[in-house]
Formats: sequence, C-alpha cells, structure tokens
Amino acid sequence: DRLPALLQRMPKAELHIHIEGSLEPELIFALAQRNGLTLAYPSVEALRAAYAFTDLQSFLDIYYAGASVLLHEQDFFDMAWAYFQKAAADHVVHAELFFDPQTHTERGVDIGVVIRGLHRACQQAQAELGVSASLILCFLRHLSEEAAFDTLEAALPYRELFIGVGLDSSEVGHPPEKFARVFAKCRALGLHVVAHAGEEGPPAYIHAALDVLQVERIDHGVRSVEDPALMQRLAANRVPLTVCPLSNVKLCVYRTMADHQLPALLSAGLCAMVNSDDPAYFGGYMNDNFLATFDGLPQLGAREAWQLAANSFEASFVPAAQKAVWQ
Ligand code: ADE
Ligand code: ZN
Repeated sequence: DRLPALLQRMPKAELHIHIEGSLEPELIFALAQRNGLTLAYPSVEALRAAYAFTDLQSFLDIYYAGASVLLHEQDFFDMAWAYFQKAAADHVVHAELFFDPQTHTERGVDIGVVIRGLHRACQQAQAELGVSASLILCFLRHLSEEAAFDTLEAALPYRELFIGVGLDSSEVGHPPEKFARVFAKCRALGLHVVAHAGEEGPPAYIHAALDVLQVERIDHGVRSVEDPALMQRLAANRVPLTVCPLSNVKLCVYRTMADHQLPALLSAGLCAMVNSDDPAYFGGYMNDNFLATFDGLPQLGAREAWQLAANSFEASFVPAAQKAVWQ
C-alpha cells in the first residue's frame, strides 16, 4: 500500500497547532529542572499517564499546568524548535503557530519574552529547515474581553512579529459575541482573524464567528455538519475549517476515528484540512494524524490526500505567489 508513503511525503501546511500543545512530557521535566520548579507529577511516565481526557476542559486543565514551566525566552525557543524539527520530518513546509500569551503573562512572564523566543525559532526554521512559519496570537475566551484588549495592547510593540489573532480555550459558554469589539480592533490593525468554533460549541457559534468576528478561517468547525445551511455557506465561500482528527477523538468529540465527519466535509466541497492541534497531548504530529485518519476512514484515498494538502495551502495566510509554488 503506497498511501502511507504519500501521506508522509506530500508537502503540506499546518494551520492549527498550539505551540504550548507541542510541549512533550520529557521537555516539561527538563524545563522544570532547568528553572528550579517542582511538578505535581513524580515522573514523565506519571505525567503521560494523566493524559486521559473526557472533554475539552479536562485537557485544558493539564495543558495550562504543563505550560507553567515556560519562563525564559530560551524556553519558548526550545519548545518551538522541537516542534519545527518534527514538522519538517513530516514534510510540513509552512506552519502558522498559535500561542496563548495570557497563559504566561498571568504568571508574570513578559509578553516580549514569549514572542521573541517563538519568533527566533520561526526564523531558524526557515533558515535551517526550509520551513516557513508565522505566529497567531490567541485570546483565551474563558477570560474577559478587557483582558483580551490588555493583551493586544501589550503585544503591539511586536506587531510585525505576528500575522493574526485567534480565539481558543473553553468554548461552551464563551460565544464569539463576547469578543466582538477586540476582534474589530484587530481587523482595523490589519491582522488576520480566526477563531475556534464548533469544536464542542453549537453551529450557532460558527455563524457568529463569521458574522460577528468576521473570521477568515474556522478552527475545528466539525459541528457544522449538524447545520445544512451552514455547510452550504462554508462551501460556497470556501471558508477553511482547520480540522484536527486525533484531537477530536482524544477529547471525545467522536467516539472513534471511524465516526469522524472529515469525509462528509470534503464531499460537501468544504476547504477542510488535517492539523495536529496539541500533538504532545493527542497522540502525535502531522503524519500521525494523517495515518490515523486514513486508517480509521478507509473511504479516504489518494485523491482526498492531495485535496487535503491543496486545501492547507489555499487556506494559509501566505501571498498568492507563494501558494502558486506549493499548489
Ligand atoms: N487550546 C489548546 N488546544 C485547544 C483546543 N483544542 N480547543 C480550544 N482551546 C485549545
Ligand atoms: Zn485548537
């Protein structure tokens, strides 16, 4: 079977990766030791054994705890550099990385430390791995809109080092409308705008992300299959959905991969593609996601593999001339 080789070798873009979600247990322990911190888990194995999630919140609690070992610019660099080496091995040629500054500024880490460390890794990824990379600042939706405004203001001295903003963390109970004004300001600043919607939240959150936040992409968006009118809207406007198959299974959005709705999204003509979300927590990086997806959904074949790769470039925030080279 030549499909696994195709999945691995085809050039692709990754558009939905939380860089804090690439922090492997081994690096969490190494950084804790380097920074003189004590963890709530006695060993790498004990920490990894705690990665059994029932829903999004059960994951987020342990994800924010893991990120607490990040203190210095070098820590952020080391985390992102480890990710880029994995991405390059999986033939990811372009990556747009989410980062959660509030997870760090709430612990007293300066936002400049976060952004400079990640940016330096992006530059080295281009120079040494040939992977082009950019940063997307995410607001935590369980915090207030005022806190998002404060975060945006603190990030503005680094405006040239990130290309857009996103919205992540606990979805249900924190609808897009809560962030209408801060997203309007971000659009006025010329930032790209995306939002998580329809991961655990209802299709109405996807409509609101489009209508109120005026996002250019929907992160996850898998619950759109419950709303035929929404499906038509997403297909007609080629609104990209950054789908994360292993994440959806680990967070119990679907019971098994065979239940995943990616085939329905592709059949309906949506611009969906495969991403890893939080690879250190959900069972793997891009190639692991592609292999698990195509293994669990045998109706997907080489045609869909190429479509997913083409969609990943179409949905990326790179200039059209560069897209033409990749596509
Ligand atoms: N932060 C990191 N991963 C996330 C996800 N899958 N959904 C919402 N927020 C997140
Ligand atoms: Zn995500």
